[in-house]
Amino acid sequence: MPVAQIDGRTIAYTQFGPTQGVPVLLIHGFPLRGAMWDEVARVLGDVLAYRVIVPDLRGVGESAAAGPMAITVEENAHDVLGLADHLGIDRFVLGGLSMGGYIAFALLRQAQGRVVGLILADTRAGADSDAGKARREDLATRVMVDGPAAAVGAMVPTFFAPTAYQQRQDLVDRATAMIHSIAPSTIAGLARGLALRPDSTDLLATITSPTLILCGSEDSLTPPAEAEAMRARIPNARLIMIPNAGHISNWEDPVAFTAAVAGFLESLR
Ligand code: MLT
Repeated sequence: MPVAQIDGRTIAYTQFGPTQGVPVLLIHGFPLRGAMWDEVARVLGDVLAYRVIVPDLRGVGESAAAGPMAITVEENAHDVLGLADHLGIDRFVLGGLSMGGYIAFALLRQAQGRVVGLILADTRAGADSDAGKARREDLATRVMVDGPAAAVGAMVPTFFAPTAYQQRQDLVDRATAMIHSIAPSTIAGLARGLALRPDSTDLLATITSPTLILCGSEDSLTPPAEAEAMRARIPNARLIMIPNAGHISNWEDPVAFTAAVAGFLESLR
């Protein structure tokens, strides 16, 4: 896996498709890693010949260890911009699922002019409620004591539509294994960083790039009403629902998800 040095910190990433052209940068969710994008990135890159770049955020995979102090969305956005600089990339399409979307908002605050297209999947603009912040700190504390299993118990039941959670053991196993591959300090640091993220609702009306919003129709973590609220505020946004899918909608229906992204990328050409 190639790596970049961003301010002396190692950030690993995967590239799909050609190594030239305006790329699509895909940011993973919490507490997952870049490999959550594999099916989407392979089709976009290897079949449809889009340049796709997928980082592992700090503390994840082969990127340098981080946490358990808060790893903020601003720091993650800074790393993504640093990776783009490292690769000589000025402008890019930016996509993020859930936490990846929160990081996309932070990146827009830092460098909106570099984003030529935006993909917001199963995410929300709002900050955590006080109760939500308390749950993040509880998770961070428990993960440091009990390890990633605490995050598996807290997160995996919320990741999928109820039927998929019952019947798609492959998806449950994949999420479980991926979470177990993340260091407890990273999970704690990211959880604490998510609790600190600002409300991005006011940012939405200022987004100038064409925007694709995707949401699993059975996403209970960042539900369709959140997606519709973002669509209503972002000037040039389109919302595509992924029927019967939950929060990690790109896993439950990779074909529908990838087709929606491919159609959006085609519209940007
Ligand atoms: C994610 O999928 O990135 C997280 O579930 C988001 C969150 O916990 O808010």
